[in-house]
Amino acid sequence: MELGCGWGLAGIYCAKKHAALVTAVDIDPEVFPYLKLHANLNQVRIATMKKGFAGVTGEHLKAIDVLIGSDICFWDELIDQLKRLFLRALRAGVRQVIIADPGRSSFEKIGEYFVRNGSGVMLDWTAQRPRRSQGRILRIGSIDNTSASG
Ligand SMILES: C[S@@+](CC[C@H](N)C(=O)[O-])C[C@H]1O[C@@H](n2cnc3c(N)ncnc32)[C@H](O)[C@@H]1O
Repeated sequence: MELGCGWGLAGIYCAKKHAALVTAVDIDPEVFPYLKLHANLNQVRIATMKKGFAGVTGEHLKAIDVLIGSDICFWDELIDQLKRLFLRALRAGVRQVIIADPGRSSFEKIGEYFVRNGSGVMLDWTAQRPRRSQGRILRIGSIDNTSASG
């Protein structure tokens, strides 16, 4: 499941490269036509769900293996909603939550919470192509601690 999917490129990548069955979730239904266009261009099918973070329930999450999101924690108001959502996900049996972010303070606060309770790690990430860019990744769940930093 991709949270706050926007045009859904991360979920589309997972469907295309890893044959994942993906549900893309966003509070704004106007993103879905763009997501469908990109999915068609990449010859994958993505299910969509119009929900806010607070509206994604344990019932929605119980069939999900991995929860992903990119650039979804951009306001302080979202900290609590996302923290609760990740906790619901773990309770529902989701094996990993992987969230990428440019490194906003709101994202770092969520990361600190899960690092402190021992279920998460915060990682630095650098991509070299198509141009050099840096960010942070929060990984919660089954964790290989050897790659932890920060
Ligand atoms: C900065 S965009 C990132 C989009 C996409 N993940 C990406 O990396 O290109 C944030 C997305 O989160 C969605 N969003 C904002 N608040 C949300 C909420 N409370 N629940 C679900 N989605 C939300 C927005 O509609 C938007 O599509």
